[in-house]
Formats: sequence, structure tokens, C-alpha cells
Amino acid sequence: VTSLKGRHFLTLAEYSREELLFILETAMQLKQRYLAGERVIPLLVGRHLAMIFEKPSTRTRISFETAMRELGGNAIYLSASELQLARGETIEDTARVLSRYVDAVMARVYEHYKIERLAQYSRVPVINGLSDLHHPAQALSDVLTIMEKKGRDITRLKIVFVGDGGDNVLHSLMLAVGILGGRIVIASPKGYEPHPSVVKLFNEHAAPNGGSYEIERDPFKAVENADVVYTDVWVSMGQDKEREKRLRDLEPYRVTVELMERAKPDAVFMHCLPAHRGEEVVDEVIDGRWSIVWDQAENRKHAQKAVLALLVP
Ligand code: CP
Ligand code: NVA
Repeated sequence: VTSLKGRHFLTLAEYSREELLFILETAMQLKQRYLAGERVIPLLVGRHLAMIFEKPSTRTRISFETAMRELGGNAIYLSASELQLARGETIEDTARVLSRYVDAVMARVYEHYKIERLAQYSRVPVINGLSDLHHPAQALSDVLTIMEKKGRDITRLKIVFVGDGGDNVLHSLMLAVGILGGRIVIASPKGYEPHPSVVKLFNEHAAPNGGSYEIERDPFKAVENADVVYTDVWVSMGQDKEREKRLRDLEPYRVTVELMERAKPDAVFMHCLPAHRGEEVVDEVIDGRWSIVWDQAENRKHAQKAVLALLVP
């Protein structure tokens, strides 16, 4: 793998299998060094990361900020509502100006086109911190966690996502697993399928590596023999108007103890968090013996540290 410096991180599909493995390997090394007591690894001294948020965040904000600090750099939290963006300054002009001050920009946006436009007009790397379609930083942490728990070769695993097949976190998980040559089964009702633009990326970037995905309407059938059962909220940020319909349509896809008992005996339960307990997952599962959600959340920092260390010039 040649240098990744200066590259954007928007959907994961910009990265080859080898590059993705290189980022994951770097994350494992940085995590080991951190756990061995090296609290600061000064790879980004004097560098600044601007972090623009159009929506709330707990994990993404804190994990990027601490990752940046632990690399010797600095992070600046910017609420979109307090930038001149809120008064009509364009994304293009914002990107041009920001990239004269900072070395990288992370952004959490509603519509995915906004992150693409930021990247197009930015001189410095732009990192997607979640859009309506993608959450690549989450997927990187998810794959890192799966590798830690189930071994580095994820191609033989049965990874099942239960719930909203059009979910941003699922889209990125599909791409990450697929680019690495793995298989993902999606248990979702009719009308909740992966977005066509994501299917297109999957076909172009994951299928050639042997990656595959299937849709299975019956959640109990889907989780049979599963190694990993993953879910996310039924109502994502920005979808509040559809709340009642979504809760009705997705009700049969709740991750319960009965559902987990159909998976392999050593199956793990994953969730990007925040969870809406009692909706997509019950307490007995997220707090139960299957759950690895806290390790998964912890890995956000280590995975993102690798992205920052490798991409920020
Ligand atoms: N999983 C995740 O991105 O969480 P936040 O919304 O808290 O950042
Ligand atoms: N699908 C959720 C993920 C939150 C991290 C959302 O977009 O709100």
C-alpha cells in the first residue's frame, strides 16, 4: 500500500481491499500501543481537525476529538448552526476557507451530497462522520471489533443485520464486509432495502472481491447459524416524521432473546449505538451474554486514529 495521505474518507468504496486491511492493521497496532500505556503517539503534532456537526453525536464527536489529541493534534468542534453556513454561506465557500486553516475536516451531515461537495472543494482530506447514506467510520470500527472477536478472516462468517435495510450504518457495514470479501445477510421487511446507490457501489467494489449480500424477509430464518447479529435504530436522525410507520413495519424485527437463541451458541450482538432499548433491541440482549456493544464503541477511537494518522498530511 502506497501512502494514503490526502485521501478523502467518504464511503469506504474509495479504498481497495488491501488499503482497508492496511487501515485496520494500523488501528490494531495503535490500539495495542495505547493499551500498553503509550497515551500520546505524536504523529499529528501541530495538525488541526475541524469537525462540523449538523446533527447530535456522542461517540463520533468524542472519539474523533480524543483520537486527534492522542496523536498530538487538535480538534475543533463546530456546530453547523453556529457557522455562517446557517446564514447561507455555501458549502463550497466553507470548504475553501476551512481548508486554509485546518489539515482535515470531519463532517456529520443530513444529505450525503453535502459531504461530497465539501470534499470536492476542500484542499484537505474530508472524513464522513455520518450522512443519511453512509457511516464509514462506524463500519471500520465494526470490522475491527469482529476481527478481534472472531479472527482476522471474516470471509467465512455469517453476519446478519436485522431491521432497516436502508440504514446508513448497514450500508457502510455492507461495503466494509463486502470489500473484504465477506457475506452479509439482511433481515428487513419489504420497502426497507439498501439504497440503490449503495447497491451500485457494492456491485462495483465488493462483488469483484467475492463479497455478497442477501435479503431474507424472515428474521428467524436469517439469524440461523449467525456468527454476528447486528441492528440499529428503526428511526434514524432526520426520519422523525416517519416514526409511527417505521415502528409498525419494523416491529417483527426486534432483536429478542428468542431471536439470539436461533443464532450460533457463540454469536455476538452488535449495535452502533445509541440504542432505543425496547424498540430494535431488548435489555436482555444488549445487556446480555451476546453483547459486545461497549467494546465496539471503544474501537471507534482506535479505528479513527488509524484513519487520521494515515490520511492527514
Ligand atoms: N454510533 C455513533 O455514531 O454514535 P454518535 O451518534 O453518538 O456519534
Ligand atoms: N442510523 C442512525 C445511526 C446513528 C449513529 C442515524 O442515522 O441516526
